[in-house]
Amino acid sequence: MKVADCITTDVVLPNPQTQDPWDEVVVDPALKDRLLNQVLLSMHLRDTLPFIVTACHGLILLYGPPGTGKTTLARGVAHRTAALTAGHRARLVEVDPHGLMSAEHGQSQQKVVELLTNHIPLLADDGLPTIVLLDEVESMAVARGAASLSANPADVHRATDAVLASLDRIASEHPHIVIVATSNFTDALDEAFKSRADALIEVALPDVDAVLAILRRTLQGYGGAFPEMAELAGSSGLAAVARRLDGWDGRQVRKFVSEALAGRLETVLEPGTLTLADLRTTADRLHAASEKATIGASAGWAADARGERHAV
Ligand SMILES: Nc1ncnc2c1ncn2[C@@H]1O[C@H](COP(=O)(O)OP(=O)(O)OP(=O)(O)O)[C@@H](O)[C@H]1O
Ligand SMILES: [Mg+2]
Repeated sequence: MKVADCITTDVVLPNPQTQDPWDEVVVDPALKDRLLNQVLLSMHLRDTLPFIVTACHGLILLYGPPGTGKTTLARGVAHRTAALTAGHRARLVEVDPHGLMSAEHGQSQQKVVELLTNHIPLLADDGLPTIVLLDEVESMAVARGAASLSANPADVHRATDAVLASLDRIASEHPHIVIVATSNFTDALDEAFKSRADALIEVALPDVDAVLAILRRTLQGYGGAFPEMAELAGSSGLAAVARRLDGWDGRQVRKFVSEALAGRLETVLEPGTLTLADLRTTADRLHAASEKATIGASAGWAADARGERHAV
């Protein structure tokens, strides 16, 4: 795969084809403020003061369980940056790190350097504020500790060194570029990489109130095509449904609505006929299924502990 093929998005915002997802993510407003402030501050400080003073790298790490909105927040902050900077425009670049790391042995390092020190600065050479989304960065900045040496080929370790060196160069040479990296596995991330981050922001699972808010937003979104579904968003009975979904991530909560629609042929053909009862039934069914799965899993663990479970 060529380095250019690892760039999955390169867009100047605002753009009529790219929707701003910032308001769609339900998280503590303080988290959004911190992310946005850090992006803007990092650009400003690095443009104004020497690196030796600020040690700002223009790197922000969003970490947490899958499906909690990390990637969406990173995209959203690019839109917000566009809205709040002088020219009212910003660039969003998205990178698929797997494409880089799957290269033949010896090439990953070269590709990472090419991407971070040549390719991205070239894309951003018009000086527009640029947000680079490095999703699932653990594949690129693998911890180099002794424990992982046996598990990771030397090439990956050299690539981590290359990422760090490239980040240092971006930090000082390209103050208008900020990298927002996301990860599910902070333990797998290199310490020196984490140390370079200007902010490590945890994006946790939504609490029950947030689940309810996500459910409401999802139904309102469906309302764009099926207006009756937006009415369900205001139903007081929705709180009980949300309680059933406690512990789910945001992605699962959004998918729950399509799962409920799939419950009856009528709602498949006419989504506007979805009722609160449909949502309740689906939530009960999935809740029971997840309990069964948990019981199954704990039974398995218990059997393992007693040495009764054997490989199948
Ligand atoms: N807190 C949230 N509020 C509203 N929607 C959410 C939330 N979290 C996730 N979603 C929705 O779930 C989908 C997946 O979100 P996203 O890809 O941003 O999660 P992620 O944290 O990057 O997941 P992963 O770690 O698996 O990459 C999106 O449609 C997003 O809108
Ligand atoms: Mg993601």
